[in-house]
Amino acid sequence: MTGPVTATSLTEDELPALVTLLASEGLPNEDVATAGRRFWRLDDPDGHVGYGGLELYERDGLLRSVVVLPERRRRGDGRRVAEAICREAVALGLDRLWLLTTGAAGFFERIGFTRAERGDAPPAIRASAQFARLCPGSAACLRRDLTSPAAGMGDQRCM
Ligand SMILES: CC(C)(COP(=O)(O)OP(=O)(O)OC[C@H]1O[C@@H](n2cnc3c(N)ncnc32)[C@H](O)[C@@H]1OP(=O)(O)O)[C@@H](O)C(=O)NCCC(=O)NCCS
Repeated sequence: MTGPVTATSLTEDELPALVTLLASEGLPNEDVATAGRRFWRLDDPDGHVGYGGLELYERDGLLRSVVVLPERRRRGDGRRVAEAICREAVALGLDRLWLLTTGAAGFFERIGFTRAERGDAPPAIRASAQFARLCPGSAACLRRDLTSPAAGMGDQRCM
């Protein structure tokens, strides 16, 4: 661990770099400029760590586009990126996060998400592009309650 991670909202000019990285990972990227999405760049004292994003549906959010630069993986930075985006979610007033993933369910389970059925998600989440068409039916669905005392939000951690 190399120091605190800071989250900075992405500008329109920075979206192409995010799209390129998401595409190289086979993650949904064609809708990043669509309304209702927010993306952050994550940095720490050693430099650029990665990105993360949220789609906002009232008090539910879709966590998406969590990606750590390849050269920085497997040393705890993914956890710190996800924690930083969860803090942004809490600051935005969200109560729950949902996500779909084909390759990283184990990662999200390690950092406090639990498996869910797609049908457990509220209608707005189920109607999102990722749920409705961008992610395969085989993708795992996970959720995270941001309001639970067990989430440890008092010390600014959500997982
Ligand atoms: C998934 C990803 C963000 C993880 O980042 P990372 O920096 O390697 O993760 P961390 O080092 O913080 O790992 C935290 C824990 O999850 C585990 N883990 C990491 N990637 C995992 C994966 N794909 N599957 C299962 N477990 C994983 C680690 O071993 C570690 O476990 P530990 O706490 O028992 O040691 C990164 O691999 C990535 O950017 N992948 C491509 C994009 C992607 O798939 N994003 C998710 C979909 S939105």
